[in-house]
Amino acid sequence: MNKIAIYPGTFDPFTNGHLDLVLRSVRLFDRLIIAVTTNVKKTPLFSVPERMALIEKSLPAGSNISVESFGGLLVDYAEKRGSIIVIRGLRAVSDFEYEMQMALLNRRLNPNIETIFKMSSEEYSFLTSTAVKEIAQLGGSVEGLVPPAVKSALMEKFKNNT
Ligand code: PNS
Repeated sequence: MNKIAIYPGTFDPFTNGHLDLVLRSVRLFDRLIIAVTTNVKKTPLFSVPERMALIEKSLPAGSNISVESFGGLLVDYAEKRGSIIVIRGLRAVSDFEYEMQMALLNRRLNPNIETIFKMSSEEYSFLTSTAVKEIAQLGGSVEGLVPPAVKSALMEKFKNNT
């Protein structure tokens, strides 16, 4: 059986925390699809095509990881891609309420889809895309927090700010 897992998110931008989760998850499945979408509650810094390109540049070559985008409901997209597995990362307790609500709503929308949570690695448990954007915007260093391609893109976005 070809087990495909979907890792959905806004990824605005993709961080080393996301990358760590991807690399630790892909070993468990035949294929992992990183699925980029627009969270209606957030105003993105990078467009969906920009975010996808940055993720692609950050992945190891020749891996069984692909990057796609989707609109509409996550459970509908997962079903269309022939997957019943959604992966989400959990950093701190503060993530729990939001993630539980999303997992339970998704289960209600489609009981066939299972959400699997992976604990983030300790060194990235404090890391969020929002914090990374703020640091970059205020002229701080994001070295070690994001892949090199993302670091360059952030510097380019905020080059006139400092
Ligand atoms: O990285 P994020 O912003 O925490 O990811 C949240 C995301 C994009 C996974 C979530 O907002 C989502 O699944 N959006 C698609 C629309 C949907 O299915 N909404 C119902 C889920 S409660």
